[in-house]
Amino acid sequence: MADKFYITTPIYYVNDVPHIGHTCTTIVADIISRYQKLLGKKVFFLTGTDEHGAKVAEAAKKDNCTPGEFCDRVSRSFETIWPKLNIGFDYFIRTTNPEHEKVVAELLEKIYNNGDIYKDKYEGLYCIGCEKFITETDVKDRCCPYHPNQPLEKQSEENWFFKLSKYAPVLIEAIENPRSPNHYEIKPGSKKSEVLARLKAGVNDISISRSEVSWGIPIPWDKSQTVYVWVDALINYYSALKINKNEEFWPADVHLVGKEILWFHAVIWEALLLSAGISLPKEIFAHNFYNINGQKMSKSLGNVISPQQLLEKFGVDGTRYLIASSFPAFDDADVGLERFVQKYTADLANGLGNLVARIAKLCENSGFEFKETTLELDSPYKQKIEAFRLNEVLEGIWKKVNEANKQINEEKLWQLTGQVLQKALQNKVDSIRKIAFCLQPFMPETSQKILDQFKGPKIKSAPVLFPRLK
Ligand code: MSP
Repeated sequence: MADKFYITTPIYYVNDVPHIGHTCTTIVADIISRYQKLLGKKVFFLTGTDEHGAKVAEAAKKDNCTPGEFCDRVSRSFETIWPKLNIGFDYFIRTTNPEHEKVVAELLEKIYNNGDIYKDKYEGLYCIGCEKFITETDVKDRCCPYHPNQPLEKQSEENWFFKLSKYAPVLIEAIENPRSPNHYEIKPGSKKSEVLARLKAGVNDISISRSEVSWGIPIPWDKSQTVYVWVDALINYYSALKINKNEEFWPADVHLVGKEILWFHAVIWEALLLSAGISLPKEIFAHNFYNINGQKMSKSLGNVISPQQLLEKFGVDGTRYLIASSFPAFDDADVGLERFVQKYTADLANGLGNLVARIAKLCENSGFEFKETTLELDSPYKQKIEAFRLNEVLEGIWKKVNEANKQINEEKLWQLTGQVLQKALQNKVDSIRKIAFCLQPFMPETSQKILDQFKGPKIKSAPVLFPRLK
């Protein structure tokens, strides 16, 4: 299918409820998906939950319920919060779906029959937080850098191994050579260099089964072991299409992920696919992290921001705007409620909201009749949004918002009459319509409201777009 676009978010672990980190990736995926639809593409947007493994089993135990009950409950909290943020995913996958489990088993069997899986003994340090073995070089103060409060577990067991090392040279070629039939992009460039350097330094085969974790999918040829949760999880991107019977969307156009899970998405996933004879995704985009007021977000610090909190305070489009304009595409970004309040007030209540209200009122009072001009997205906009430079897109739009507000004051629009007023209003209405058009992927409700309000020939006032915060 030529004009298709398939985008995914990571599937989130159900040991935690949705927070601003998950919200960020999911809103950004929604923005890209809406943008691609605006271009006329057929889009499939996938998100979901990652439900197997030791971490989830432990969380269920702490909660005194079965893993199944626990997953049902937390998974629902993800599935139901996204529509409240106007996130229009096409399918919500759960790894406990038996249909997904079937695809995982089939794929592994294929890889096994290819001779890429063998039995061996593994000994190493395991981080339950990351659900992965940590190499000595990654250990910081005897802990994993992402989970400093969780002690590493020494594990030693007989496992099934996947020949990752065999695929390293193919992957290096696929990443580096745009003419390789397996070529895929890792973005941004700095992340691509990190992956390449690590691949070139040499990789070991990886354990893909667990004998001690019962909360997982059984290995098809050895029911005493379950599939390693990461292998199970990665396959969701492929199984979702099988479940939906829309495999024509494969390969994925972009897997959007956080930086901490890039290796799984840019190396392990591709090696598994190569072994199974399935074509590779086209791009992996790994973004950086939000910090909250200069600190890592964590439950123990009590600084976690939830999507509900943002929704209550800033509304749907307010939240979407604040998240997109602080999206940590290339560097970590510092966010906090105080900062969000200031930005909401400056950019939305005083900025866009005020501009729209003032011009609508002037149009209504003067009985101005305007001529609709055609609207389109320009190429700098397209280039930036396709490169995930969302904050730059929004900065560009807000330059226009601020300019228009400034001109209203300087030109004293409310004092003008006749032809001069007509001309000034036509100019401002054109700007507003262009702004609203460009905002469609970011703030779907607001942009629709503005485009409906600023329809020729007569324009009327409407309720305020962004109420002031109390
Ligand atoms: N279950 C795995 C992913 C499997 S995908 C086949 C997982 N889940 S997670 O619940 O821990 O979610 C991780 C993702 O949440 C990150 O990759 C990122 O997209 C998002 N974020 C989590 N914390 C974040 C910040 N502080 N800032 C921005 N995004 C962050 O890993």
